[in-house]
Amino acid sequence: MDQRYCIPEMFETARYRLRRANPSDALAIFESYATDPTVTRYIGWRPHSEPCDTEDFLEEASAEWETGKGFPSVVFPQSEPDHLIGMFHPHVFGHKVTYGYVLAKKAWGNGCATEVMTWLVDHALEHPAIYRAEAFCDIENRGSARVMEKAGMIREGLLRRFFIHPNISEAPRDCLMYAKVK
Ligand SMILES: CC(C)(COP(=O)(O)OP(=O)(O)OC[C@H]1O[C@@H](n2cnc3c(N)ncnc32)[C@H](O)[C@@H]1OP(=O)(O)O)[C@@H](O)C(=O)NCCC(=O)NCCS
Repeated sequence: MDQRYCIPEMFETARYRLRRANPSDALAIFESYATDPTVTRYIGWRPHSEPCDTEDFLEEASAEWETGKGFPSVVFPQSEPDHLIGMFHPHVFGHKVTYGYVLAKKAWGNGCATEVMTWLVDHALEHPAIYRAEAFCDIENRGSARVMEKAGMIREGLLRRFFIHPNISEAPRDCLMYAKVK
């Protein structure tokens, strides 16, 4: 039996539907959130200025499915199945899964990130080869920190000068690390 962890190419939570991200999602992502500086403030890439920026990113990210390195997945409300609202991006490193996530601003505040992250973290820890589900956020990103707490992850510490969030500063920033383990 293949013991490597992966997520389903399509799955549903109570209110959302997720599927494997494809290069053809580029325009929807560009129009939904990739150009929005409010959305990108606490993430590791600058707002996209042209659709080709989003295409290049997606070409690279979606290829991670082939190697099992990562599983970028786009999310839609079940009530609006053609309306792309964001992306969840698990990466596998041995016995660990590390998460990134981003939602369009108009989708904030509805519990989407909590609902999907809870599903993803629990799914990962059910797999025999995965012992740790982790994520980190900028020290000022209170929304993301709260999502992790609500998904059952525990704050493990402050990682000083851990990551560059280039939309805030070129200098590495302090970050909060959260994890759920078994
Ligand atoms: C962070 C983000 C994913 C949260 O998604 P969301 O679906 O709006 O979050 P939820 O609705 O599940 O909210 C979860 C909790 O966080 C709180 N929260 C959300 N945004 C917040 C904010 N900006 N400030 C403070 N608390 C916030 C909510 O109130 C809720 O807590 P509560 O139930 O105790 O009230 C979303 O704001 C986003 O995409 N931000 C831009 C990208 C980003 O920062 N990604 C994370 C990088 S580490």
